[in-house]
Amino acid sequence: MDEMKAVIYTKYGKPDMLQLADVEKPTAKSGEAVVKIRATAVNQADNHVLSGMLRYSTGLFKPKQQILGSDIAGVVEAVGENVTQFRVGDEVFGDLSAHGRGGFAEYVAAPESALGLKPANLSFAEAAAVPMTAVTALQGLRDKGQIQPGQQVLINGASGGVGTFAVQIAKAWGGVVTAVVSTRKMEMARAIGADHVIDYTQEDFTRNGRRYDLIFDTVGNHAVAEYRQALKPDGRFVTSAFLPALVIQGPWLSLTNRQKMLNMLAKPNQKDLVAIKELLEANQVRPLMDRCYPLPEVPEALRYMAEGHARGKVVITLL
Ligand SMILES: NC(=O)c1ccc[n+]([C@@H]2O[C@H](COP(=O)([O-])OP(=O)(O)OC[C@H]3O[C@@H](n4cnc5c(N)ncnc54)[C@H](OP(=O)(O)O)[C@@H]3O)[C@@H](O)[C@H]2O)c1
Repeated sequence: MDEMKAVIYTKYGKPDMLQLADVEKPTAKSGEAVVKIRATAVNQADNHVLSGMLRYSTGLFKPKQQILGSDIAGVVEAVGENVTQFRVGDEVFGDLSAHGRGGFAEYVAAPESALGLKPANLSFAEAAAVPMTAVTALQGLRDKGQIQPGQQVLINGASGGVGTFAVQIAKAWGGVVTAVVSTRKMEMARAIGADHVIDYTQEDFTRNGRRYDLIFDTVGNHAVAEYRQALKPDGRFVTSAFLPALVIQGPWLSLTNRQKMLNMLAKPNQKDLVAIKELLEANQVRPLMDRCYPLPEVPEALRYMAEGHARGKVVITLL
């Protein structure tokens, strides 16, 4: 049996539960490619799954899959039968959150539908920083947000993984973008293209009298009524942070008002991964990386991520 190094968890809990272990190296089943992982990124979702918050889908009493990590970038090492899009040696990236994860490891077997060719102008570390959060921003702005050129768009939480992509994608699609960030991230928000920047430690965007066509929220730190105050009468509000109040109020408000108030859940897919790749290769969007850690330091990376103040993405690099 061939072995590889992986960071595994066998019980739900905190990042301290994770351990570096030797596990069986995966082989490619039909429709799958084995990818030698060169970089993987940490997402808030890894901490949610690790905590057991999603145990109804990840295993009621203990995790069904022992390796977290959704975003990967690496090199195709082997392909199974019926793989038509990739060959050994191709450089790829992708989001495995809909396919059991497995990114915190030296190798993973992934369905080819979860992968795309790595953007030519990005390193492996930069490419790993992209899939989940960029596709979330793209789908939130395009599908739920129905963004139009010239619209006033506010991004709340504009300095994090999802927010840094949301600012850039909204700009690329012609939005006039206001970024809400903390004081030390104001420069960064301007550097990625925000037209206006609000320092949330000094100003509450829900109380300053300005109104937006579209609010894309990644924080969920205001009440529904407060967000509505900052929306135009026919504006749209979309949050990636999941507001429980919107489960009931959202459909009712959307029925009885022209304002639309929506939670979103990203659906990773190859078409949107390719759409992001095109934005990256056109230099309209670039990933921002906060820190890189080696594979054994995944627990530290998850702890840092859990603090909720990352500047872009937290990445794990492998040799
Ligand atoms: N629905 C989905 O499909 C989906 C997909 C991906 C992620 N998510 C969720 O989306 C949320 C954001 O994810 P992420 O990866 O972007 O997280 P992240 O990288 O941790 O970013 C969070 C950002 O929020 C900022 N922030 C904290 N308090 C704030 C406040 N009061 N006002 C404005 N900004 C504030 C932080 O910056 P400061 O340091 O400046 O405070 C940080 O940059 C998480 O809840 C995650 O679970 C959902």
